[in-house]
Amino acid sequence: MAESSSDLRRRRWWRSATTRVLAGVASVAATATVLVTAPGADAAASTLGAAAAQSGRYFGTAIAAGRLSNSAYTTIAAREFNMVTPENEMKPDATEPNQNQFNFSSGDQIYNWAVSHGSRVRGHTLAWHAQQPGWMQNMGGSNLRNAMINHIQKVMAHYQGKLAYWDVVNEAFNEDGSRRQSNLQSTGNDWIEVAFRTARAADPSTKLCYNDYNIDNWSYGKTQGVYRMVQDFKSRGVPIDCVGLQAHFTGGSSVPGNFQQTISSFAALGVDVALTEVDVTNANTSQYSALTQACMNVARCVGITVWGVRDSDSWRSSESPLLFDGNGNKKAAYNSVLNALNAAGPGPTTTPTTPTTTPTDTTTPTTTPTTPGGGGCTATLSAGQSWGDRYNLNVSVSGSSSWTVTMNVPSPARISTTWNINASWPSSQVLIAKPNGSGNNWGVTIMANGNWNWPSVSCSA
Ligand code: XIL
Repeated sequence: MAESSSDLRRRRWWRSATTRVLAGVASVAATATVLVTAPGADAAASTLGAAAAQSGRYFGTAIAAGRLSNSAYTTIAAREFNMVTPENEMKPDATEPNQNQFNFSSGDQIYNWAVSHGSRVRGHTLAWHAQQPGWMQNMGGSNLRNAMINHIQKVMAHYQGKLAYWDVVNEAFNEDGSRRQSNLQSTGNDWIEVAFRTARAADPSTKLCYNDYNIDNWSYGKTQGVYRMVQDFKSRGVPIDCVGLQAHFTGGSSVPGNFQQTISSFAALGVDVALTEVDVTNANTSQYSALTQACMNVARCVGITVWGVRDSDSWRSSESPLLFDGNGNKKAAYNSVLNALNAAGPGPTTTPTTPTTTPTDTTTPTTTPTTPGGGGCTATLSAGQSWGDRYNLNVSVSGSSSWTVTMNVPSPARISTTWNINASWPSSQVLIAKPNGSGNNWGVTIMANGNWNWPSVSCSA
């Protein structure tokens, strides 16, 4: 669709100083951009999440509830990431420890921490041969089939409308592309599609993913097996929205040369693709940049999640596979990932499911293009890229270099990501922005949640 332009394209557009008028919402940008002076507007983002957001993608991490009391951990996690996957807390053994008795305390703790720090959440996982509660491990046949359906229904009902993605089924294939033997598989070969149909009915608002490891090499049997299943599901109308490549390049595996072909081949089936549990032995810089680049090269590769914050948080900590060392320092691989994210071409352009919910030219820019501050500075908003569920706003501050901008987002919209600022969050509707050394041009991603009216801003210096 012509309505979206990536930040990259927009930056070039500013530089060339043309006044191309794009269709739809982007015409807002054309009008509002007149208010913004170009130099500096293209500063590269300085965190992973912000850099990914520029192309409409996310950068996430696995979070463990037990570490949320560690401020060194939460400081990095809040600053760098805008998608969170609970590492263990939404797995069946955690959420249904006794049959039909649910416990969401740890999952909720992570969910609440994530959204209060402007992050979205990937649910992980509903149906898996591993980390089943004891009562489920001993079950089979129709009892297990019914228990699986009940589990999906109850857990998804609890998080209804809250999660961006759910890993409905995890790791159901053998290395040769056949189905993995498990108690779930023994209930009948249709267990996976039953899980997906149940999931769609339980929460139509979330994207439903199949997630697996060792499906990175396009010519590998397991990759082909999963591909054929997704192809079959799409052809028969079984609801599936995404494929997660765990991308554990630890434990002896490495990024294959045809990795991008795998990502683009899945994407061509009409599903989102994500790298969901990335780690790389010794955080090899070229492998980290190659896997990031492969995702950035495919428009429908929607985001990357690393499987933990610091090496000391990793399930494979002996391989030091993450982007921060045990002391919280950025490793060399961090910079290679950040650079690849900042250089990314256009990302996903989600087609709105209901076009009437997209922003209209009349509701937005004319109301608050420029808001005079309490004194000494002015914050000016202009439209950035938009998607079916969210939009970017660029903010330009003039009049001072030591400013504080307060942004109030009209409920139920909320701010999901920021870039080029020091952000603090009195609530998920209120953002307080201060300079972080990147200059006076910064931005936010706002999840509209149906309300596309722009936030109000005030500036004081
Ligand atoms: C791992 C966690 O990181 C560990 O803490 C836990 O002990 C075992 O599970 N594939 C997956 C993840 O889908 O859920 C796994 O996470 C790693 C492999």
